[in-house]
Amino acid sequence: MTMKTEILTLLRESGDYISGQELCNRFQVSRTAVWKVMKQLQGEGYIIEAIRNKGYILKENPDVLSLSELKSRIHNCWAGREIYFHEETGSTNIDAKRLGEEGAPHGTVVVADQQNAGRGRRGRAWESPAGKDIYFTILLRPGFAPDKASGLTLVMALSVVQAIEKKCGLQAGIKWPNDVVVNGRKVCGILTEMTTETDYIEHVVTGVGINVNLEVMPEEIKNTATSLLLEGGRKIARAELLQEVLERFEVNYGAYAEALNMEPLLEEYDAHLVNRDRQVRILDPKGEWEGIAKGINRLGELIVDKGGGQLVEVYAGEVSVRGLYGYV
Ligand code: BTN
Repeated sequence: MTMKTEILTLLRESGDYISGQELCNRFQVSRTAVWKVMKQLQGEGYIIEAIRNKGYILKENPDVLSLSELKSRIHNCWAGREIYFHEETGSTNIDAKRLGEEGAPHGTVVVADQQNAGRGRRGRAWESPAGKDIYFTILLRPGFAPDKASGLTLVMALSVVQAIEKKCGLQAGIKWPNDVVVNGRKVCGILTEMTTETDYIEHVVTGVGINVNLEVMPEEIKNTATSLLLEGGRKIARAELLQEVLERFEVNYGAYAEALNMEPLLEEYDAHLVNRDRQVRILDPKGEWEGIAKGINRLGELIVDKGGGQLVEVYAGEVSVRGLYGYV
């Protein structure tokens, strides 16, 4: 950690005044050097007050997304232990794949404030304007077989739901397999892409886009998509939310990788499943059909009642699911 990142961590974690002299002693630098760091932090948007005889205090936590902010918050064992931040990039999924090819460790995270070639599922684009949303990708090197990789998306969806509920006080749900929904509209999409060597995963990247502080949704998607600000009525500090997502993911991934199935997370996943007990249309390329969604199984497949008690297990990679009455 740089001195700036460490000072930021100290200020946030103490929540109180820290004397200039204490900081000088700790880092073995002059008062001017400490003062310069404070000026830099203020320039980045932090409200830091300096009071004679008391020292420095961090007054409020603005929505700053920067490498120092992320590094000063994320202290996981592996999820985000190595972190990259770009003001602007093409796609964090592509950046993470490149890092994967270059040998970056399991858990490396790439975050961007803006993407100019953001990718969605099924070849669609993901609109990624600056200063509002979260775009990040985590690089994973799971030791398991490629057929277990689709579960990672479900594990991430659950982690995002938990983080939103904790940090935004909103109730969030999952539209199987991996859209996160608030009040019936999508707030988060997840795109997992894999590089395999026939029978094992070389590496896999899971990219997450969360609509956080957008005040107005673009016309084309406003019926099906929303933002956390629009639903909760207050601005969210993106770094704080991202920190929570990564903390949850580290724990949930651990449970999934140990069991090698969704069993330990199943109950909580199902409790958040918005399709549960609802009519869904299965868009199977071999022929569309309808049924009632019941929940997921240990493989993360959706169990659908086709009628007359005939239960069919639907695999995420093959089909898409639509609600009959709108998006969910
Ligand atoms: C979807 O279509 O629902 C998935 C959207 C995934 C978007 C995220 S934003 C960060 C990462 N980088 C990308 O290019 N896409 C994913």
